Amino acid sequence: MPFTMGSLRLRNRFVMAPMTRNFSPGGIPSDGVAGYYRRRAEADVGLIITEGVGVDHPAAVGRETMGGGASPVLHGDEALARWRDIVAGVHAAGGLIIPQLWHQGVIRVPGTGYHPDAPSARPSGIWGPTDKAMVSPDYLEQVRTPTAPLTDSEIGDLIAAFARSAANAKAVGFDGLALHGAHGYLIDSFLWRHTNVRDDRWGGGIAERARFAVELVRAIRAATAPDFPVIFRFSQWKLQDYEARNAETPAELEAMLAPLVEAGVDIFDASTRIFTAPAFEGADMGLAGWVRKLTGKPT
Ligand SMILES: Cc1cc2nc3c(=O)[nH]c(=O)nc-3n(C[C@H](O)[C@H](O)[C@H](O)COP(=O)(O)O)c2cc1C
Repeated sequence: MPFTMGSLRLRNRFVMAPMTRNFSPGGIPSDGVAGYYRRRAEADVGLIITEGVGVDHPAAVGRETMGGGASPVLHGDEALARWRDIVAGVHAAGGLIIPQLWHQGVIRVPGTGYHPDAPSARPSGIWGPTDKAMVSPDYLEQVRTPTAPLTDSEIGDLIAAFARSAANAKAVGFDGLALHGAHGYLIDSFLWRHTNVRDDRWGGGIAERARFAVELVRAIRAATAPDFPVIFRFSQWKLQDYEARNAETPAELEAMLAPLVEAGVDIFDASTRIFTAPAFEGADMGLAGWVRKLTGKPT
């Protein structure tokens, strides 16, 4: 069954989840990447969401929990030329494709990535609680030391980096974009109270912690077009804690999502690990169901 939302017209409702593949050394998609995505389109996937793609910021992608370090980027002539070919290949096979814009934030191992000297971007300088972390002890050792919290101007640079990459996504022909606001990475580290303990305008209650995400979406809208489809992925769980919650109640979830809708999110992607688990006590509904009920947006 097709799906239509504004300029987004899917031939069916099979959407490929974003999956990091690490086959883009130096950030440039390697020869295999175009064929990899094209084959998915040839097999009738309606919409492909690419692997996480580093935004145009020096600390966006590096090594992280499961190794890696060869994620693609979406800036620079060489990478953009590759993406143009990848998008054209998917379109030729009748599919649609959007990039997942990614900044690893607190999860990036300091000293790794394409700009090892760049400090990792951490709202409050902290990785988060380490007692429930579902990550290896080796990794934890490399990220647990607190660093300097982001300054206001560094936060402005991050927002500008997302906007530049969003404009590039549109320029190379992608059919929209997705934001990685889940799993403990940069955007989520602002949303979660255990990685964001700021007492300025970027921290506080859930609505204040959502300000960074909201400003990002606004900047992306301004850098693309009013009808350029924007998908926002978020999760309650984090790599720091599978039981974590950004929103303890449906009311908190609404407080987090409503300003995102107003800023221009078209579709939400609720990543839940356990798809069938009820999101809140007292009702059977999963997280995606709640999002749909509270925002009226597709999930
Ligand atoms: C190899 C692999 C790489 C992944 N990389 C990403 C990624 O880059 N971005 C992301 O948001 N999720 C990533 N995920 C998570 C998946 O998109 C998906 O959410 C997860 O497999 C759970 O499946 P579910 O959404 O059906 O619950 C990855 C998963 C796997 C297995």
